[in-house]
Amino acid sequence: MLKPVAKCMDWVFPNHWNPMENLGALSFYLFWVITATGIYLFVFFETSIDGAWLSVEKISNEQFYIGSIMRGVHRFASTAMAVTVTLHLIKELLLKRYAGARWFSWVSGVPLLWLLFASDLGGYWLVWDEKAQYIAMTSAALFDAIPIVVEPMAFGFLSQEVVSDRFFTLLIFLHVGIPLALLLGMFFHLQRINHSRSIPRRRLAVSVLVALIVISLLMPATSMPRANLDKVLGPIEMDWFYMNPFPFIDMWGPGVVWAVLVSFSTLLLLLPLTARATRSIARVDPDYCNGCGWCYQDCPFDAIYMKPHDFMKNHMQAVVKEDWCVGCGICSGACPTVTPFKRFNEANSGINLVDRVNFDVLSEAREKLRERTTAGKILVIGCDYGTDVRQFEDEQVVAETLECIGQLPPSFMDYLCRREDVEAVLMTGCRSDDCYHRLGVELQQERLVRLREPHLKYADVRDRIGKLWIGKGGEKEIRSHLTGIKKQLEEEGV
Ligand code: HEM
Repeated sequence: MLKPVAKCMDWVFPNHWNPMENLGALSFYLFWVITATGIYLFVFFETSIDGAWLSVEKISNEQFYIGSIMRGVHRFASTAMAVTVTLHLIKELLLKRYAGARWFSWVSGVPLLWLLFASDLGGYWLVWDEKAQYIAMTSAALFDAIPIVVEPMAFGFLSQEVVSDRFFTLLIFLHVGIPLALLLGMFFHLQRINHSRSIPRRRLAVSVLVALIVISLLMPATSMPRANLDKVLGPIEMDWFYMNPFPFIDMWGPGVVWAVLVSFSTLLLLLPLTARATRSIARVDPDYCNGCGWCYQDCPFDAIYMKPHDFMKNHMQAVVKEDWCVGCGICSGACPTVTPFKRFNEANSGINLVDRVNFDVLSEAREKLRERTTAGKILVIGCDYGTDVRQFEDEQVVAETLECIGQLPPSFMDYLCRREDVEAVLMTGCRSDDCYHRLGVELQQERLVRLREPHLKYADVRDRIGKLWIGKGGEKEIRSHLTGIKKQLEEEGV
């Protein structure tokens, strides 16, 4: 289902620009844009019931575009953040990345939705125009529906005289405090994410900022007429991204809207309970762990820590936090002891998945390669979340699948090319910025070009490896790539 969207986005955005692969990072970035422009606006904002609306008008009209741009970017970046966060949620949902140990990132994301809404609506209040009046009165009705609220908030908006400057100071406090709570929540959300991508690629970040500035120039953010609590409100300009529950409050009443919002959040919070637990987890064998820490550095989910070795003096040892481990196996791809050159025995690895040892893939590949009698043997390696590569097996091609491409130690490639006469390898898996296990593709790429330990040993092996990071649905590309490899081997007389 995501493939057509991804293809369309690839067409619009060249490599690494795809916003769909940077949604969490974009949300973070937009938060900083909103904060920076918000600080600018605050300098010129007057915190009083009489001065607020006028000061915002002055920012918009008396600062030779600067104020208007700052206001526009502040508003449109908030809208953009609503979009990126919603798409981020939908994407994680479709990929079922709420299951098993990933429940933490999912559950900690849900309160962020509430804080984001509250931050934005608080901003509209400050303008103190008719939209602010509508939001203030409707939200007051919403809060008054909570049985524990003793004094109805709506009384506070009965007439112009009742609203005081003190009330405005409270609004400012909330409009600073709630986004701060959101920021804290955002960092908490990343607690189980190692090497998190909270900054989008530079070109994407610059383009988003330029787009926000252009939109602010073309459609400047404006206010409605000044709020007047003694007047009946006319039609309100709606912000359909943040004010979407408001028409329902008018239509169904606050009780029903509370019920819908709370039920929706509860459903989201309970979703991880409906998913199957992690398939496999990693386990350390202290007999073979040399304390290098490579698995600790590479684990995308921060599920490994180092402690003094159980019995080797002055050595460290990796420990798996089992509740945090999603079973991607990237740690075993990083472990230097997982090498077939040493001794061909799976029990010799410092760390490996309990139920999906990568040595099994190596043994199976060796067996199949030995059965092939044709010259020019080709090995295709894929992952569970990319295109299923087993369909490409024939008398020349052997295919193997791992949980994640990062689970593959580069020494396996060295070994199979040298000892089992593999002439060409095709590695495929998730899209490069969109690895199901976050970092598998990126880390494997670095290992192959010797930027990361453990790396490929032999340069001639590196030249035999082709890579196709295309995700699911890449049958056509893989088939044509394999045809190309076969043709080339034939031409070379292999
Ligand atoms: C202010 C709102 C949010 C921000 C700024 C944000 C940001 C991020 C970032 C930066 C990541 C790490 C991406 C990476 O490095 O791979 C992430 C991961 C994640 N987010 Fe959010 N997020 C937000 C809201 C949400 C919401 C509402 C949900 C769902 C309810 C959610 C679910 C997740 C999940 C499940 C992951 C982990 C993905 C994995 O395990 O690979 N996030 N988020």
